[in-house]
Amino acid sequence: MKFKAEGWVFAMAALAIAGILFIPVAALKDPTAALEDFDPALLTRAMAWCLFVVGFWGFKSRFWPKDTQESRRWLSGPLLLVAQAVLVRGTGELLSRDLLSWTWLPLEPWIWTPWFLVTGLTGILLGRRFGLLTCLTGGLMIYLFADPGPWPLVGCVMAPLAGILLLRRSPTRGRVLRAGLGAGLTLGVVAAIHQGIAGEAVDGISAAVLVPVAIGLLSAFLSLAILPVLEWLLGELSDVTLVEYGTDHALLDRLRQEAPGTWHHSLNVADLAEKAAAEIGARALFCKTSALYHDIGKLAEPALFAENTDGPSPHDQMDPLTSAQRIIGHVTHGVELSRKYGLPRAFREIIVEHHGISTVRFFYAKACEPLPDGTPPTVDRSAFTYPGPSPSTRESGIIALADAVEAASRSLQAKTEPELRAFVRGLIADRISEGELAQCPLTLAELARVEAAFISWLKGRNHLRPAYPGRVAETVAIGESAVEGHSATQPA
Ligand SMILES: [Fe+2]
Ligand SMILES: [Fe+2]
Repeated sequence: MKFKAEGWVFAMAALAIAGILFIPVAALKDPTAALEDFDPALLTRAMAWCLFVVGFWGFKSRFWPKDTQESRRWLSGPLLLVAQAVLVRGTGELLSRDLLSWTWLPLEPWIWTPWFLVTGLTGILLGRRFGLLTCLTGGLMIYLFADPGPWPLVGCVMAPLAGILLLRRSPTRGRVLRAGLGAGLTLGVVAAIHQGIAGEAVDGISAAVLVPVAIGLLSAFLSLAILPVLEWLLGELSDVTLVEYGTDHALLDRLRQEAPGTWHHSLNVADLAEKAAAEIGARALFCKTSALYHDIGKLAEPALFAENTDGPSPHDQMDPLTSAQRIIGHVTHGVELSRKYGLPRAFREIIVEHHGISTVRFFYAKACEPLPDGTPPTVDRSAFTYPGPSPSTRESGIIALADAVEAASRSLQAKTEPELRAFVRGLIADRISEGELAQCPLTLAELARVEAAFISWLKGRNHLRPAYPGRVAETVAIGESAVEGHSATQPA
């Protein structure tokens, strides 16, 4: 097995976590004294932890979705695990001291600990699956490091677990706050039971509920505050950020007003790409949001694009080469706009790659038409070709295919499933034969599922509705034919 860069990152993270958790503080101050006091059990625990991380890495390499491996996520995961180790070690240090000396509330340190902080950040940034894993690793770290007994262990696993479950698939700011509150309440319930069994008075039990709730909410606020910094540091886009980019942005407003045809095309591409991505376990929300921005470059000259014009085309006054160059220019202009408006780098990659290295076929074919004297013209195909690069991730590949399918389906006459299948299959086959997907990690099996998702979407769009009775009578009255009570133009 090749030991890739991510392997080294995981190995270094394992060492860092083992170091943070198991090197006694005394060893840092006085190495000689620490050697004498060395507890062999520490070494066993450290080795257990290293084995776990290596096993976790093996599991991740084998079963984790490919996009997680392809992006910088493989770096983010270990870094967050190290942050969790720091939190666990901090709690352990507090556990070993007399807290009554610094707080007026007689509560044990595990009740004060913001267990949702790292897990919540991981869940928001890397998804719920990674978040769930940090719940379990947190419990394991606590057990291996300090073995504080069942109550802290149950609390530190159950509280973030409840928070992660409350985050749901697409966390918004409201859901993050709700998740923090839920995590706090869960820890509060565990702590209250513990205090009750220990024979504490009502005051102590109330404090055991209120303190975790307040800390859970504070953790949620802190997560939201740290999130932009972490996104910037790790090059990640959280679902919270994606939801915001998908609902409100000046560029989307401009697209809606200045290029309504492109706006509707982008909405359709976003819907198609989301459906296909969900089908193969790729990042569906990222596909949906970034696809909204893939054609923002058309804002420079919306009238050049068929979807925004009704009357005569400006291309009627241009030669094919100029037309192609102006069309191709929407990619360059899209990149400029994305920089001007500060869009994430991942969106810029989608803008650059969505046409890959394809040719503007319509104008290339027009340029290749024989001259008036019947001789074939000399045409440089590269002048009609997008600069690329071609799609490099599964998400980028899906959006490029969705873009092609949506655009071509505008003039689609096919209605039956076999016709739609032939249409979609032909478009995907064209992209493969042109080498468009050569850099894209989509497998043939995944492409088959993407194809099925596209067909289902097209079927949904083309479905027929029964005509309203009044409308049928009206249609018959003006002499038009109503075919068996169905109308494809029936308003929704
Ligand atoms: Fe485009
Ligand atoms: Fe497009």
